[in-house]
Amino acid sequence: MSDASKAAPHSVTLTTQDGKSVVMPVKSGTLGPDVIDIRKLYAELDEFTYDPGFTSTASCESKITYIDGDQGVLLHRGYPIDQLAEKSTFLEVCYLLLDGELPNEEQYKEFKRSITYHTMVHEQLQFFLRGFRRDAHPMAVLCGMVGALSAFYHDSTDIYDPVQRTIASHRLIAKLPTMAAMAHKYSVGQPILYPRNDLSYAENFLYMTFAVPSEEWVSNPVLTRAMDRIFILHADHEQNASTSTVRLAGSSGANPFACIAAGIASLWGPAHGGANEAVLAMLGQIGSKDHINEYIKRAKDKNDSFRLMGFGHRVYKNYDPRAQVMRATCHEVLRELGIKDPLLDLAMELERIALEDEYFVERKLYPNVDFYSGIILRAMGFPIAMFTVLFAVARTVGWIAQWKEMIEDPDQKIGRPRQLYTGAAKRDYVLPSKR
Ligand code: SDX
Repeated sequence: MSDASKAAPHSVTLTTQDGKSVVMPVKSGTLGPDVIDIRKLYAELDEFTYDPGFTSTASCESKITYIDGDQGVLLHRGYPIDQLAEKSTFLEVCYLLLDGELPNEEQYKEFKRSITYHTMVHEQLQFFLRGFRRDAHPMAVLCGMVGALSAFYHDSTDIYDPVQRTIASHRLIAKLPTMAAMAHKYSVGQPILYPRNDLSYAENFLYMTFAVPSEEWVSNPVLTRAMDRIFILHADHEQNASTSTVRLAGSSGANPFACIAAGIASLWGPAHGGANEAVLAMLGQIGSKDHINEYIKRAKDKNDSFRLMGFGHRVYKNYDPRAQVMRATCHEVLRELGIKDPLLDLAMELERIALEDEYFVERKLYPNVDFYSGIILRAMGFPIAMFTVLFAVARTVGWIAQWKEMIEDPDQKIGRPRQLYTGAAKRDYVLPSKR
């Protein structure tokens, strides 16, 4: 880890077997590892670097989020996630991620007003929704609806106009909860509810999801606070798979709605945002504490595709700081609802056993943010298929902040990785009669 105040500018020299060499500058950030600037490597050595999965590659420079995987640290614009989860609100974290600073009262009031007055969606969108089968997975519905927004909001698709970038950003942050709730209501055959301007962001989402026109909806402050905190914990996370997808899509100049739809598609994968849904399925599959050891054994078996969902992380080689907050919130919500969830007991026992097991300890596989979120969301009444949808609602602000930073980066250019080609060398076409 470098300390920019101490690091003197330096470089590394790479020399190939045939004696060609290139000197590459090393750049230091505020925190975290230095980077070797390899941009001139191919021009000077006619060779590429090779890094499938980008385990050792910095794809960009960013000021938004910093993760120290060894220390279990997550900072948003320098503020630790546990402090934001305890003291801030999701909308204030949205402002922080987008702007870089915490808002003063006037700035927050204006931002909140803008988001509130963008929560409704175009009335025609409900007919787009009705094109889906009722049993469509809500992530498929959300991905389709968000991509379709560019067909409704043409006036905010010029990505080089900062005013349009801001309007598109606010529209996406404001409308994702509305569309997520629409997808849920459509799947359960209940009437869609319009957003209410008198409710907070998290409260409004719970209202649109769980209220019905036939009776008054009563807000539960503990659940509202838990929902808001869950949104905060999922807001942004550096250059994860879905954020990198959004950046790559945006690098071609695609409109923000299309880029966020691409991010939703990537997040859906069970190795990424789909893990919260997969954790519940896994706990259901394990069934009881008596079967834990059998599944731990399967998770270690290279010939078995079974993985302990909710465990491990590309960056965290310590406890995911979000998982710790999520764990506390889980107990709070179950206590408030008076729910004794056997799956939580099973999860706690699984965590205890896994954290003592040599295989997991050696590989530093700890519970991640997805391990507990599914249990809370189930307790709050969300169907399992909605879990990753909630992750997408929260992560939209992170995707947008990273997309905006990429567009405004003077070094930005279209992303176009190269490859190590191991296919057939040049050969001539063979007529079917000669094959
Ligand atoms: C998220 O990137 C982000 O920031 C993502 C995220 C965000 O906020 O955006 O934090 C959200 O995606 C959290 C992760 C949710 N996914 C899961 O919980 C799915 C289960 N986890 C694994 O699929 C895995 O841990 C990953 C995908 C999360 C990370 O994979 P890596 O970094 O590529 O690690 P790896 O596959 O190289 O694993 C290293 C070793 C391997 O064993 P060996 O080859 O060294 O013997 O650990 C093993 C793996 O087989 N391993 C696991 C395991 N995860 C890794 N073994 C059993 N169960 C697991 N869950």
